[in-house]
Amino acid sequence: MTSKSYSIPKINHNQSNPLTMEQYKELYKASIETPDEFWDAQGQRLDWMTPYTKVKQTRFNKGNVNIDWYAGGKLNVSSNCIDRHLSQHADETAIIWEADSPGHSQHISYQQLHDEVCKLANGLKSLGVNKGDRVVIYMPMVPEAAYAMLACARLGAIHSVIFAGFSPHAIADRIIDCEAKIVITSDISKRGGKSLPLKANVDEALARDDVTCVEQTIIFNHDDVEMPLLDKQIWWHKLTENCAVTCPAEPMDAEDPLFILYTSGSTGQPKGLVHTTGGYLVYASLTHQMIFDYKPGEVYWCAADVGWVTGHTYIVYGPLANRATTLMFEGVPTYPDERRIGQIIDNHKVNILYTAPTAIRALMAKGNLAAQDSHRDTLRILGSVGEPINPEAWHWYNDVVGKSKCEIIDTWWQTETGGAMITPLAGTTKLKPGSATFPFFGIQPALVDAEGNELEGENEGNLIIKDSWPGQARTIYGDHKRFEETYFSAYENVYFTGDGCKRDNDGYYWITGRVDDVLNVSGHRLGTAEIESSLVAHEKIAEAAVVGYPHDIKGQGIYVYITPISGTEVTEDLTKAIREWVRHDLSPIATPDMIQWTNGLPKTRSGKIMRRILRKIAANDYAQLGDTSTLADPSVVDTIIENRLNR
Ligand code: WTA
Repeated sequence: MTSKSYSIPKINHNQSNPLTMEQYKELYKASIETPDEFWDAQGQRLDWMTPYTKVKQTRFNKGNVNIDWYAGGKLNVSSNCIDRHLSQHADETAIIWEADSPGHSQHISYQQLHDEVCKLANGLKSLGVNKGDRVVIYMPMVPEAAYAMLACARLGAIHSVIFAGFSPHAIADRIIDCEAKIVITSDISKRGGKSLPLKANVDEALARDDVTCVEQTIIFNHDDVEMPLLDKQIWWHKLTENCAVTCPAEPMDAEDPLFILYTSGSTGQPKGLVHTTGGYLVYASLTHQMIFDYKPGEVYWCAADVGWVTGHTYIVYGPLANRATTLMFEGVPTYPDERRIGQIIDNHKVNILYTAPTAIRALMAKGNLAAQDSHRDTLRILGSVGEPINPEAWHWYNDVVGKSKCEIIDTWWQTETGGAMITPLAGTTKLKPGSATFPFFGIQPALVDAEGNELEGENEGNLIIKDSWPGQARTIYGDHKRFEETYFSAYENVYFTGDGCKRDNDGYYWITGRVDDVLNVSGHRLGTAEIESSLVAHEKIAEAAVVGYPHDIKGQGIYVYITPISGTEVTEDLTKAIREWVRHDLSPIATPDMIQWTNGLPKTRSGKIMRRILRKIAANDYAQLGDTSTLADPSVVDTIIENRLNR
């Protein structure tokens, strides 16, 4: 069948059989050749208050980048994720919540979800929250985090979730950048048996002189510990106690922002990527269904955190739009020990598990403990995301967790892309361990060399995407120019991902990792520039350079080279204090693994730090450093090699 005679099917919610590879190929071809027709059909999976009149109007040319999907359409994300399921499925479970401490869980039906979301939305309204206002959410992995996101969506307020592992300084920067009117947080969060002081972190952030925009902070009472409230703070349960359980859903334009999510880049402050309403939800819902071959009634567990894009798209929005049962886990898969993951799977009869290679490697480090005392017979699909999965971890995940009867779905994507881009479709794609396989519908990946020449066939290069897809971020909040410069200026008229990639003889894609100064530590994205600016803010540090190095469990570890202010006595205590400084200033996830003091950094004569050299030394691979003749003082390198920490 040629694409001309092929009428594009609407892939519907209850589709029971995965596509064949032939059908995938045909549909893929149609999605590229006739995107309007393809995405028009898929747009119909949502309930629109006003139908859209145009499907795709997009431009990728620098200076004029504009991404517009489903123009003229009006819809509300919260009613698509909740209300439309109520007439027939109100009692079905929307969220299963598994607490940090074993044996505590909760089932939340679609009706309950509706009522809780509406109550909070009414509470927010009573505080003066309107369409377009920004609300920061800094929450543990509890259902209330999802209620908060959906309550914002219901009113048309734009949420910005900040990962609960971030420190006061990072919270304050984000609050200022998006000018948040409201902060929603919790007294504490619990992870791996430890309790973290979320409210105290927010208090510290809000105490900063330059944070003046926040009018109210709502605090969810997760623990039963008494805690005094400060001025302009209110308990969640007090705010909502007399609120109605219905609240009209605001009709939103397809291109109205749904959320801002901050992520690290190779330079400067984190970027607030803006995702919008219509295209994002179409893409989230379609990818969730197709990639995991999700069938109604199945229990689906994405073990990410709502503070990251994976949690947005594949814990909350995609699954709920598809009326899935989505499992939210508060804790970590290694607490109380590695058997926990299997116990959760058995207790809740999980069919689909989606996690990150770093978690898989952490489990794997304890041999087969993860497989003890559980049978995991319900599992059908195992997903992976966040970093390249090494074949060893792939096989262990497959053989031990999946008992060699599941499919491993390795999904490549980014905060910027909104949903998975290069990925197998469960039941359709023949897998190769370590490869994210083929592009999703509508996605046109290509490999280019440094000059932007497209590389054909079996090859390796930088990964670009040639045309727009509905789920992509539209801009960087408040800085469209930076958006264009970051993603649309390296190569003309295409989106640059920042990743390197190989394509094999069979057309399979293999992501090789970032080609810029972005680290991927335990699946968390960190900019070396952010860590460096935190380091040099310390009074004893004159200069810092941060690079990644291969780490068995984390994927990449953080290696720090620092030059002290002259006259500083370098001691073990000082090194410890610096480690603590970064933890507190930025986040525990940014804590340096290795700190090497040095009297100088290798620089070019124009003063640019040569990271290429530092990366090699950190990796203990310094035999071939390449050309060092352009260095201002080549002897610096010898000293650094002599004192290297990773041997
Ligand atoms: C990396 C996470 C290899 C990649 C959804 C990307 C991956 C960055 C994979 C985005 C994968 C993500 N294989 N690498 N399956 N998935 N990455 O924004 O380098 O937190 O650019 O989004 O993670 O990280 P982010």
